[in-house]
Amino acid sequence: MSEADVIAKFEAGLQAIASDYPAAFGACSTEPALRAVNARLVGPQGELNLLLKLLPEVAKEKRREVGQRSNQLKNQIQQTFQAKLAEIARAARDAELSATPLDISLPGRSHKPGRLHPLTRIKHDIIDIFVSFGFDVAEAPEVELYDINFNKLGFPPDHPATDMQDSFFIAPPAGSDPPSTLLRTHTSNVQIREMSRRQPPLAIISPGVCYRRDDDLTHSPMFMQVEGFMVDEGVTFAHLKGVLTRFVHRMFGPEIPVRFRPSYFPFVEPGGELDIGCVFCKSWERHKTGCRVCKDSGWIEILGCGMIHPTVLRNVGYDPQRVTGFAFGMGIDRTAMLRYGISDIRNLYDNDPRFLTQL
Ligand code: FA5
Repeated sequence: MSEADVIAKFEAGLQAIASDYPAAFGACSTEPALRAVNARLVGPQGELNLLLKLLPEVAKEKRREVGQRSNQLKNQIQQTFQAKLAEIARAARDAELSATPLDISLPGRSHKPGRLHPLTRIKHDIIDIFVSFGFDVAEAPEVELYDINFNKLGFPPDHPATDMQDSFFIAPPAGSDPPSTLLRTHTSNVQIREMSRRQPPLAIISPGVCYRRDDDLTHSPMFMQVEGFMVDEGVTFAHLKGVLTRFVHRMFGPEIPVRFRPSYFPFVEPGGELDIGCVFCKSWERHKTGCRVCKDSGWIEILGCGMIHPTVLRNVGYDPQRVTGFAFGMGIDRTAMLRYGISDIRNLYDNDPRFLTQL
């Protein structure tokens, strides 16, 4: 192409851009659209830059002249672009100011306050009652030695009595027999741990989580018990009956009847179970027996108890000729089920707020 042709092409290009840009900017009503047009005209890959690529083919003296013309056009385009940008911003602000104002008086979405789980509330109630009787609160490990969970409590090794508490064992070190560690099956381990490190007189309450291979409407593989025991010179079954009867009346109401039934636990002698009058049918008031919950007996079992076996006292270094004691173990889940009338223990562990907020 001759120089004259190049210059003619350049001039025609400038002319086309000059006549195009006012209308192109004018048609834009948003900032992104405006910026897109600006980029098409004067951006790095824009129409003006494409024209400037023709310049090396023009002689030096002429090149300056046509270069200046393109700079002038670029400046005009930039001024128009800035003016239109300011116009669009103003229009957006005007629209904002004249729109319906935000109603800040609308109430926000409130957060529902959390609350303690029913099992935690029952646990606190039980602790409060026994602390008011003068008991201390203690804790013991949930991962326990087989020796403390069973042997020291008077379960003979591999004795069928251990079948009463089907257990989760922790994988034993090779060669260890019986397996040495398990998830505790009851809170009675706290008796051994506390008595081994303290001297009588002592009165202790100890709530905590236990584990057994159980799973039905009233048995969960993970459940809570509270253990209590008292050791001193001259402690008798009368103390046991007095403390537990007082507890039942504080927990379930002063009118609730109680009865002690003989039962077997390897770590107490004599051993028993404590029943309370069924809080659902209150048969003692109506002089007729029973409902579905108490299986028509009018009574519900709430705990195991008894006088601490002399062997257990000896195992922790006490002299059973000098001191005696009583102990009891109660299911917290069972107590919660009684208090709230829950028929399936799993409801307590499903953590469904629709259920829990009703309690
Ligand atoms: C014991 O665990 C004895 N350690 C209690 C004891 C302590 C007796 C001190 C004498 C002296 P038992 O296995 O019965 O006993 O359990 C006591 C309570 O724990 C039961 O009455 C029941 O309320 C609760 N319980 C036992 N297994 C489960 C389970 N799988 N799910 C929910 N609650 C359970």
